[in-house]
Amino acid sequence: MSSASFKRTLVTSALPYANGEIHLGHLAGAYLPADIYVRYLRLRGEEVLYICGSDEYGVPITLTAERVGISPKELVDRNYASIKKSFEGFGMSFDNFSQTSREVHTQTAQAFFTDLHDQGVFIQKTTEQFYSSSQKRFLADRYIEGTCPKCGNEEARGDQCEECGSTHDPTELIDPRSVLDNSPLELRETTHWFLPLGDWQEKLKDFLGRHPEWKDNVLRYCHGWFADGLLDRAMTRDLGWGVPVPLPDHEGKVMFVWFEAPIGYISATIEWAAENGKPEAWRTWWQSPDTRLVHFIGKDNIFFHALLFPAILMAHSEDYIVPDNVPANEFLNLEGQKLSTSRGFAVWLPDYLEKFSPDPLRYTLARNLPESRDMNFTWEVFLARNNGELGNNFGNLINRIFTFIHKYFGGRVPEWSEEMMTDLDRDALEEVATDLEKWAGHMEKFEIKAALETCFHAGNVGNTYFTDSAPFLSRKTDMERCGHSLGVTIQILRQLCMMLAPVVPFGMEKLWGWLGMESDLWVGGWQEGNRNIPSGRQLGKQEILFPKLEQEAIQVEIDRLQEMLGK
Ligand code: MF3
Ligand code: ZN
Repeated sequence: MSSASFKRTLVTSALPYANGEIHLGHLAGAYLPADIYVRYLRLRGEEVLYICGSDEYGVPITLTAERVGISPKELVDRNYASIKKSFEGFGMSFDNFSQTSREVHTQTAQAFFTDLHDQGVFIQKTTEQFYSSSQKRFLADRYIEGTCPKCGNEEARGDQCEECGSTHDPTELIDPRSVLDNSPLELRETTHWFLPLGDWQEKLKDFLGRHPEWKDNVLRYCHGWFADGLLDRAMTRDLGWGVPVPLPDHEGKVMFVWFEAPIGYISATIEWAAENGKPEAWRTWWQSPDTRLVHFIGKDNIFFHALLFPAILMAHSEDYIVPDNVPANEFLNLEGQKLSTSRGFAVWLPDYLEKFSPDPLRYTLARNLPESRDMNFTWEVFLARNNGELGNNFGNLINRIFTFIHKYFGGRVPEWSEEMMTDLDRDALEEVATDLEKWAGHMEKFEIKAALETCFHAGNVGNTYFTDSAPFLSRKTDMERCGHSLGVTIQILRQLCMMLAPVVPFGMEKLWGWLGMESDLWVGGWQEGNRNIPSGRQLGKQEILFPKLEQEAIQVEIDRLQEMLGK
């Protein structure tokens, strides 16, 4: 771990909206990188807790529920179940995957709100907001449409005109109406609690100042907001579906989702602790300065995780830790186009899992993570990575070595020894050991793509070594030399297995078993994985880890997406 003062790491992935399925863009942003990082820490034997859950309040959920004709709670429960199932299929190793609509969250979020309110952190303001009498509700900006005050475009959105690009307050629109039923809107007074974020600006600046190691994109966004000056933000809303504001005279008011949703990380930890029979254990994870908090998110969540949530945590009267890092990712495009959930232009996880296994997608996305800029996913690249890299570079190597040892050495690791080492052997072993070290260094810094490149390099070293040491030739002339070379390649596989494990855990758990490792890969397997596998050990029978895929398998997917684009 980067700093010796931390004893444990709490990792979170942004709580996905329970308003639909998970798609590739989500995975590449906040989920896969986090799971890879968590698995890396577990491999290293670090104490780590990985928390997530679904984000279940807010207007879009009510609207979907109305359209489907069920209650919001029914809707989120359904979506929760299917998101959870997809994540499991994809190998997301959460310690708890909770829901913000659960009682534990209501209580936690309300206690937070009350604490801040009682300390006088909020300010109350009365403002005028658009109200739809036909729908009997106040409307959020995104549900308001009207004529642009600047250019006269009749379909300007509540906060911005897409025609002339100008931004405005919804109250500036001419003839404002509801996008839901086109009904006219009226301004009504309403009172809300605001968090005066400006009061926290200096503290937040100091906080960020202590983290020059954060990713450039995250720091850049934050400094932009500092330059504009942080504004008062309403922490309450006039809505029916949300965590009720726990104050008298506030019927019908709920908390702003971005106030309560991040608190969901805490609720999910509390729930986890209770389920594990240690109800107070959550405090170790949230209130102990030797715990390191890391939030994995997509770039659209930076403001809330790097500024708003830390301010809320700092404002609480008890001592909460604040994030030590917020590794936010940029976006993933699909076949060169922006993903669009409304147009259905996306690849949904349950659809993917119906046809393919999780490892190839994990691998392809990890090779293409949008770590510092937007990246692109194409099915052709998916096929190439699966067949070429997973199948040939890694899978074939593993398969050839195991086949060989089973065929000629009864499946036992052949005699190999220090005395028999040639320069070729030594160089290969050294190179892989160096790669393993580099790999770990990258993982520590959330540089997953770079880590994977090192691993890929190690795979090439393994392949080159296999070709150059040529056990398939020495088998006919010098069985001892042949066995020695295979013994060396087994050590290379052992290290490759660790490097690949966080990315393709399904395959590598198998390989770990075939290698006859005794420890649990995910409970400090690193220790055993750094010891030589002795001669004589019985190896398991291998199978093809990464089967080749045919062009037809992906052509269906390409065609579907092209059709959607009208091509
Ligand atoms: N649901 C949000 C999104 O998908 C993320 C919420 S993260 C949390 O963008 F911190 F608020 F929970
Ligand atoms: Zn305009």
